[in-house]
Amino acid sequence: MNKGITIAIDGFSSTGKSTIAKQLAKHLNYIYVDTGAMYRAVALYAINNNLIQEDLKKELLINDLDKIKLNFVYNDSLGFAEMYLNDINVEKEIRTIEVSKWVSKVAAISEVRKKLVSAQQEMGKNKGIVMDGRDIGTVVFPDAELKLFMTASADKRAKRRYKELIDRGDDVNYEEILENVQERDRIDSTREDSPLVKASDAVEFDNSDMGLKEQFERILSLVNDII
Ligand code: DC
Repeated sequence: MNKGITIAIDGFSSTGKSTIAKQLAKHLNYIYVDTGAMYRAVALYAINNNLIQEDLKKELLINDLDKIKLNFVYNDSLGFAEMYLNDINVEKEIRTIEVSKWVSKVAAISEVRKKLVSAQQEMGKNKGIVMDGRDIGTVVFPDAELKLFMTASADKRAKRRYKELIDRGDDVNYEEILENVQERDRIDSTREDSPLVKASDAVEFDNSDMGLKEQFERILSLVNDII
C-alpha cells in the first residue's frame, strides 16, 4: 500500500504554516502535526508549575520533563487534532500571549527539543504526514520528500496574529504582538540548537501578498509532481 510522503513545513511565526498544513492534510487524507503546539504545551506546563518567576527556571523544567505527557487527540468537529497536556485539553491556553512570550526560551532548551523531536519522528515513521514547525525539514525529517519554507513580512504576520486573538476575544494590542513576533524571530533564528533556517532543498513561499487559494494550488501542484 502507498503510505504517502512526508511534507515538512517550516518558517517564521504566523506565516500561515498551520493553515496550509491543515489544507494539505485534509485534501490528501494525511496526519497533521503542529509541533509548535508541543513547545507551547511545555511552556504552559512551566507557567502553571511556577517554573517561571522573573525568568525561566531551566534546570527545574529539565528535571520535570518526565512528568510532561503530550498527546494529540483528533477532534472530529474541528477536523484537526487538539493538544493535550497530561490528559487535559490545552488547545486554547497554549495560544495566549503569555505562552507566546515564553515559548521561544523553552524551545531553545536542548533537552526539551530532544524529547519533542523523538516524539515527532515516531509520529511520522509511517509517512502520510504533514508536519509544521521550525526544524522539520532540517532536523526532524531531513529526508522529507517535500520541504516548504514559509515567509511573510513581520507587519503582515503581526496583523494576522492580532486578528486571530481579537476574534477569539483576547484583550491585546497590535504593538505588543508585533514586538512578540520580532522577538520570537530573533530567538528562534539565533538559538544554538536547531535554529530556524531554510533547508537547502526547501521551496520558499513568501505569502505576504498571496491569497490562500493561490498558495494552496501552487503547493498542491508541487505535491502532485512528487506523488
Ligand atoms: O509555530 P508556533 O508559533 O506555534 O511555535 C511556537 C514556538 O515554538 C516558536 O517560537 C518556536 C518554537 N518551535 C520550535 O522551536 N520548533 C518547532 N518545530 C516548532 C516550534
